[in-house]
Amino acid sequence: MTQENAQTEKKPLTFADWKAALLQCRRCSLCETRTQAVAGEYREHPVIFMLGEAPGGREDQEGRPFCGQAGGILDDFLRLAELKREEVYISNVVKCRPTRPSKSGIYGNYANRKPTPAEIQTCSPWLELELRLLRPRLLVTLGGVPLSYVVGKNAAVGQYHGKAFVWEKYNLPVYPLYHPAALIYDASKKMAYENDVQNLGRMCKELFT
Ligand code: URA
Repeated sequence: MTQENAQTEKKPLTFADWKAALLQCRRCSLCETRTQAVAGEYREHPVIFMLGEAPGGREDQEGRPFCGQAGGILDDFLRLAELKREEVYISNVVKCRPTRPSKSGIYGNYANRKPTPAEIQTCSPWLELELRLLRPRLLVTLGGVPLSYVVGKNAAVGQYHGKAFVWEKYNLPVYPLYHPAALIYDASKKMAYENDVQNLGRMCKELFT
């Protein structure tokens, strides 16, 4: 191989490359208030990809998705579905913490907020590449933001939760769940959530064992 060929031949992008580039991202103003961008975590070749909304304060500080209060609830539900965190890949639609100024914020002078449509759009190439690199066999959406992203319009989790469908763009089965944090604010969703999670566990056993 000539030196010129060696220089122009492109190495395929790896997950490590993707993560290194994400950590440098300055595509939107969230980079000004974040501690760090939060990449997905655990299995590199996951069967199941769990997709949340955006990092919260604790995730922003630790650089890991779902390590705060909502993460504790997610762990409970993974146990109920007889899935281990290490068996799934967990990430978010938006990779940096969306904040609003707040005097009562626990993590700095900011509170969490939902990502805006513009932030979701600007961040979307990271998720698209993440999906293409990891090629999961099932996507579990956690809450309205990832569900709406997949459906391509505002979608109410109340209508979709627990009903699998195929995301044509990736030919990928999708299983929508409520966001774990929904249970912090609304305990009446607990039964529906447990039911959905048990069904998810059964579905995974049938499909993947
Ligand atoms: N909520 C999310 O949607 N993602 C996290 O990583 C943490 C809380």
